[in-house]
Amino acid sequence: MKSLVIFDSVHGNTEKIAMAIGRRLEAEGELQVAKINEIDPQYLDEYNLVVVGSPTHAGRPTPATKEFLNKIPDNGLKGIEVTAFDTGIPAEGKKFFMRLFLKILGYAAPRIAKSLEKKGGVLVFPPKGFFVVDREGPLQPGEEEKAATWASGILETM
Ligand SMILES: Cc1cc2nc3c(=O)[nH]c(=O)nc-3n(C[C@H](O)[C@H](O)[C@H](O)COP(=O)(O)O)c2cc1C
Repeated sequence: MKSLVIFDSVHGNTEKIAMAIGRRLEAEGELQVAKINEIDPQYLDEYNLVVVGSPTHAGRPTPATKEFLNKIPDNGLKGIEVTAFDTGIPAEGKKFFMRLFLKILGYAAPRIAKSLEKKGGVLVFPPKGFFVVDREGPLQPGEEEKAATWASGILETM
């Protein structure tokens, strides 16, 4: 199996999650973990599994992630297993208006997953969000372990 984990990251937290996912997927074959600007979206058909992760910015993936997704050719992911993850701030424990704001905006991963499916990808496992303590991080305790568990779930379905 040949897997690709692509991420964007401003403060390094999404990168840490991508690495934790990668460490788990590596056990099952060939793996590449790369920042989103290092991969050519034209050539994703050489992979069996493509996982895309981004920080959540205003409820959406970062501009670089959106650009990457838009540049994947139609059917560029045809028959390839895909899923997505994000990092963001948890609504739980926040004041009412912040909670409402976060809930209304939503998170990046489900949107990434939809874009991947639009390009022909087959959603292999539900998209997943991971949490930071504050805008610049750090990750909430235990998030890297959760990422490894999520990656195990992907492997179990394949
Ligand atoms: C411009 C901007 C907008 C953001 N908007 C949201 C948001 O809508 N929802 C959310 O949960 N987190 C939001 N955040 C927090 C980011 O998700 C957080 O910075 C990110 O998870 C950190 O990941 P990174 O270290 O990989 O950049 C925002 C951060 C920035 C800088």
